[in-house]
Amino acid sequence: MSRRCDRTSAWSALQAHFAAQGAAQDVRDAFRQDPERARRWTVEAAGIRVDLSKNRWDDTALRLLLQLADECDVTGQRDAQFRGDSINHTEGRAVLHTALRAPAGMAPFGDEVQAALDEMLAYAESVRERARQGGLTDLVHIGIGGSDLGPAMAVQALAPFALPGLRLHFVSNVDGHDLAAVLPQLRADRTLFVVASKTFTTQETLANAEAAKAWFLAAGGTDIAAHFAATSSNRAAASAFGIRHVFGFWDWVGGRYSLWSVIGLPLAIAIGSAHFRSFLQGAHAMDRHFAEAPPAQNLPLLLGLLDVWYRNFHGFGSRSVAPYHQGLRRFPAYLQQLEMESNGKSVDRDGEPLPYATSPVVWGEAGTNGQHAYFQMLHQGTDVVPVEFIAVRQPAYGFQPEGELKARLADQHRKLLANCLAQAQALLQGKTAEEAAAERAPTANPALAPEVLSRHRSFPGNRPSTLFLLERLDPASLGALIALYEQRVFVTGAIWGINSFDQWGVELGKALCNQLLPRLDTGNVEGLDASTAAALLWARGG
Ligand code: F6P
Repeated sequence: MSRRCDRTSAWSALQAHFAAQGAAQDVRDAFRQDPERARRWTVEAAGIRVDLSKNRWDDTALRLLLQLADECDVTGQRDAQFRGDSINHTEGRAVLHTALRAPAGMAPFGDEVQAALDEMLAYAESVRERARQGGLTDLVHIGIGGSDLGPAMAVQALAPFALPGLRLHFVSNVDGHDLAAVLPQLRADRTLFVVASKTFTTQETLANAEAAKAWFLAAGGTDIAAHFAATSSNRAAASAFGIRHVFGFWDWVGGRYSLWSVIGLPLAIAIGSAHFRSFLQGAHAMDRHFAEAPPAQNLPLLLGLLDVWYRNFHGFGSRSVAPYHQGLRRFPAYLQQLEMESNGKSVDRDGEPLPYATSPVVWGEAGTNGQHAYFQMLHQGTDVVPVEFIAVRQPAYGFQPEGELKARLADQHRKLLANCLAQAQALLQGKTAEEAAAERAPTANPALAPEVLSRHRSFPGNRPSTLFLLERLDPASLGALIALYEQRVFVTGAIWGINSFDQWGVELGKALCNQLLPRLDTGNVEGLDASTAAALLWARGG
């Protein structure tokens, strides 16, 4: 029987533990006292090794957090997810994206899922063949939110596995500059448009799809059936748009969890069916780990508990994700939807307002770029921001570099990894004012008192971070990495007692936009607040 987290005995015990030592805990001391700390706090699952040791927690905190998971019945909630119970209760839906990556015969709806996958992969292979024959040079994927971020991120991440000669473009924004930047690169008879929308009602996607169709016809395109496909759970609307190849999916696949469904079509086209299946297998391996591993070794559980510990006890308001891999540069944006749309809620499942915080702000940038932008604040700012570093040991460039280039790229990869490890080390280690004073600082102002200067140049340290270590970034490891984050978001939502699978918070803005649109034509500002009225008149050029 699940209890709300703040009404459990573990919650009070965690508060007491935090008050006694949590804030003061110095991870540097913990490393000094326990030579086994790095080993003890490192867990591996589905090929992903995660070192949790640089975080501000100890054995007592972990024991109490595991007790919290128990009292909140995370295991029971997890099983309900995998079983296909209607856990998205505000929409009366099951949450079964895990069924999309389970092997044939295992998942609920197994046959239906496998048939849809086979159909989508057969189409993907036919598109790849058209590209190989030179009949297709460009694919334009039109979708937004969960119908864009996943495929766009994964296609970028797995670029070395992609079919050469087929360019993939992702258009999402209702801002016509997005589509307009792509169209001049295209030839109508060599382009495939894929319109992705679960509902097929999304303003941005329909606007871009209509514009793309208009461009296609004006550019001499004739065969809409051969040049447009759709992925949607609203087949009727996609067909009414004039699209013949419509690949369907089900309402039990949430938009931000839909990469595993036909929404993954551009990825399947880019990397081919064998790699796409291995992407699904990687995710499934992580699901099995989540379902079967004991709590103290269960990676999604541990990460979810760490999130709760930081958000609700330490009071950290954000978490930064730093993938040290250029292919993962859109991963933070992908995680923003996954985490903040899922867990940015303020009532529990019964609709009761929550007295505790939920989703932190999730943000980040690929390393090393972030180091030259916001890492200053991570090291010396007043807020503590836990950082997640993602490192990949073996690079893959999509071609075999040779000669001097090979040596130079290998050197750059060493530099990349050294930077990643050094940032985590610096956050932990810090630098005292005395250490700063003992150093030469050639660019410092000699007129400044040394003790003042050394305060500017010192680092508090003890800043938490987690290392995600991947042997290589390939379809299986990317699948496992995404599933790890999905299940971790599930765990935090389960502990917070919220519905992580609806997104009512996006509705109001959509509705008001639809009301404002005709006012932009008429200039009627009646009933609007004064600020909106003034901005509307400005938008009309008045
Ligand atoms: O922004 C809200 C949202 O409903 C997301 O949850 C979803 O991923 C996105 O819009 C796109 O929706 P659709 O796939 O129906 O076009």
